[in-house]
Amino acid sequence: MKRRQIVAGNWKMNKTYEEGRELAQSILNKFVPEETHVIICTPYIHLKSIHNLLKEVSRVALGAQNCHQEKSGAFTGETSPAMLKSVGVKYVIIGHSERRAYFSESDELLASKVDNALAHELRPIFCCGEDLAIRESGTHAQFVENQLKSSLFHLSESAFKNIVIAYEPIWAIGTGKTASPEQAQEMHAHIRQLIKQKYGSEVAESTSILYGGSCKPTNAKEIFGKPDVDGGLIGGASLKAEDFIQIVNSF
Ligand code: 13P
Repeated sequence: MKRRQIVAGNWKMNKTYEEGRELAQSILNKFVPEETHVIICTPYIHLKSIHNLLKEVSRVALGAQNCHQEKSGAFTGETSPAMLKSVGVKYVIIGHSERRAYFSESDELLASKVDNALAHELRPIFCCGEDLAIRESGTHAQFVENQLKSSLFHLSESAFKNIVIAYEPIWAIGTGKTASPEQAQEMHAHIRQLIKQKYGSEVAESTSILYGGSCKPTNAKEIFGKPDVDGGLIGGASLKAEDFIQIVNSF
């Protein structure tokens, strides 16, 4: 099975309501190739209004950047998967390194978030990736393996088929320092091999694995050209429609 090529924008905590509508509209006004699946992961306040803009455009889907691990209840300030689904969300980023670092999200917590998202038919974009000290110590492959085993590999095969993985080395996020295409390929091949060992070749070959970390119009083509890189999760460059669409057109 040919896997999906995906470019997902992670707006993080950027764009006011009007700015968000403008950005989404200008992305929609531009050409998106048929074979590429585009996802826009916006702050919560934008979801409903951007869903209304996206409705007619089947190749652009809506994503959120987080969800809670419980179904509902007294969790002030939090948002549940059922709420996200009710405004047209299809994907949710889980385990972004910023949430792991600034909100102390552990592997165990992320496993519960993954379960809760799947129980509400949201597709997790599960992030993994090492920091600079781990990369320099040479233990990055083992580190990412542990992240996947702790938060994803409890899933059944049919549940795992709904997962998109994003490899985002922390040392490359927002730093302007991109992993080389070879470094990305090496880790993506490792991740695919781990999926193969756990779920078999068919699942491994059909899982989309995205690269994230200072991905830009100038380097996307080379990175996406690697055999195990199926697209990107884009931060800074997703905030400008021109740059984002150039990346979308980089396959
Ligand atoms: P940058 O593209 O800004 O480096 O961010 C990557 C990222 O964290 C996407 O989730």
